[in-house]
Amino acid sequence: MDDNIEQYSWFSKFFHWITFLILIVQIPLGFILVRMEFSDLRITIENLHVVAGITVFYVTLIRLIFKFFSQSPKLLPNAFVGQKLIAKLNHVALYVALLTITTSGILKKLFNGEKLNFFFFKLKINDNFDLADQFYTVHIVSNYTLIILISLHILAVLFHQIFLKENILKRMIK
Ligand code: HEM
Ligand code: HEM
Repeated sequence: MDDNIEQYSWFSKFFHWITFLILIVQIPLGFILVRMEFSDLRITIENLHVVAGITVFYVTLIRLIFKFFSQSPKLLPNAFVGQKLIAKLNHVALYVALLTITTSGILKKLFNGEKLNFFFFKLKINDNFDLADQFYTVHIVSNYTLIILISLHILAVLFHQIFLKENILKRMIK
């Protein structure tokens, strides 16, 4: 296998940008949803939120499985001590936040006693409103964590471009 690949595969790029596109709609959708009065429109928006969220859950699992069996481009040489570690930590934390936000949303709905459509099968379990509340708290906390991590991630790309004069974006685009 080539040890010096400089590009992410088309597969990684495709799912990276799909996740990005879904999230820029999904995060505001969540904030709009919780501020709405009960109505048919609210139910439709919640259904969309759930479908988009479960899609991100599957996409994240597929990305991680693919990452495990394939090779990612090596991080660029250090410009300062610990730079690679920070980049790695940011990527790992992003994956953890994506899995946490999606599973907490799923568990909140399931412990509410609602039937969930996972596309290939449906699931319903006994309700437990205490647990549903706790998973909703996890959902809210992981949402703010995700927003912070995405902001740092984008700032890191800008930092590379502006201060280190490295176009790392081309690894994820071209
Ligand atoms: C919703 C937002 C985003 C999420 C959740 C996200 C997540 C990730 C993750 C998990 C990786 C690591 C991929 C791997 O090695 O498996 C990554 C890489 C990367 N992302 Fe994002 N990303 C997001 C938005 C963006 C945006 C807006 C940009 C561009 C400004 C961007 C540019 C990059 C680049 C250039 C890499 C490769 C970094 C490198 O080669 O070291 N991402 N992203
Ligand atoms: C990509 C992942 C997701 C993101 C970014 C996201 C984001 C959000 C946000 C920002 C809120 C509003 C939180 C608040 O301030 O109170 C929210 C609420 C909610 N989310 Fe998610 N979510 C995601 C996935 C899911 C999934 C997979 C489910 C369920 C299957 C789900 C179910 C819910 C529910 C039920 C609410 C509360 C609605 C209500 O109070 O009536 N979310 N989400």
